[in-house]
Amino acid sequence: MSETIALAVIGGTGLYRLAALTDARALSASTPWGEASAPIHVGDFAGHRIAFLARHGEGHSLPPHLVNYRANLWALKQAGIGRVLAVNAVGGIGERFGPRVLAVPDQIIDYTWGRLGTYCEGDAWQAQGGEVVHVDMTEPYTASLRAAILAAGRESGIAVVDGGCYGATQGPRLETRAEIARLRRDGCDLVGMTGMPEAALARELGLEYASLALVANWAAGCGPATGAGQAGAEITMDEVLANLDHTTAQLPALLRALLGKIAP
Ligand code: HPA
Repeated sequence: MSETIALAVIGGTGLYRLAALTDARALSASTPWGEASAPIHVGDFAGHRIAFLARHGEGHSLPPHLVNYRANLWALKQAGIGRVLAVNAVGGIGERFGPRVLAVPDQIIDYTWGRLGTYCEGDAWQAQGGEVVHVDMTEPYTASLRAAILAAGRESGIAVVDGGCYGATQGPRLETRAEIARLRRDGCDLVGMTGMPEAALARELGLEYASLALVANWAAGCGPATGAGQAGAEITMDEVLANLDHTTAQLPALLRALLGKIAP
């Protein structure tokens, strides 16, 4: 059966399924690069066929450094999907990026290490001809998809911050204050653990790709002088999950408006 899937959503921490997906079926997660994090659920949403993949697995069993990013994106491409909205939980560094803010970053710096971050290696690559590609990453996110998300925010009355530099850290631990101070000096506004190598792999596969960053907490040492994230204050998972609940509740409306823009 052939069908056009308008968009795939990769759900991060706090987003393990799309409850509003109807008539859903699960596609194989097997790829030449190994197993994707979970089956891909393809179903109807607001009159469109869309796909959903839980980046960390449906029971959040995969920490960021063990996610098979190559398999995840390959599985989406092999399902005929050309456009990916990556939802990423982040900590906020810049003052515009406090808890519960939604943002569409426009840049990224990769601080991760040891992750399998390219399709240019191994047997599966050789089997496909072994061509070395150096993809351009000047603008790491697809401009038209970013613009559509921002327009969807305006249309649905959901505030979405335009831009910001995402610093991708290794995790799974959170950062020290000194590490966040360094990220700030480097120009990062947001910090998360899953933005890379996902963005680079999407580019290697020629997928349209943009991130919707959900701010779950002030990053270590950030935020108002007396608030969470300051010296002596800890970032708690309760705080993170409560803020993510709040932001993910806005996703169905944002998604509905986005689909109207990209697949009218
Ligand atoms: N640091 C890194 N990743 C995160 C954070 C953070 O503070 N919050 C949510 N994801």
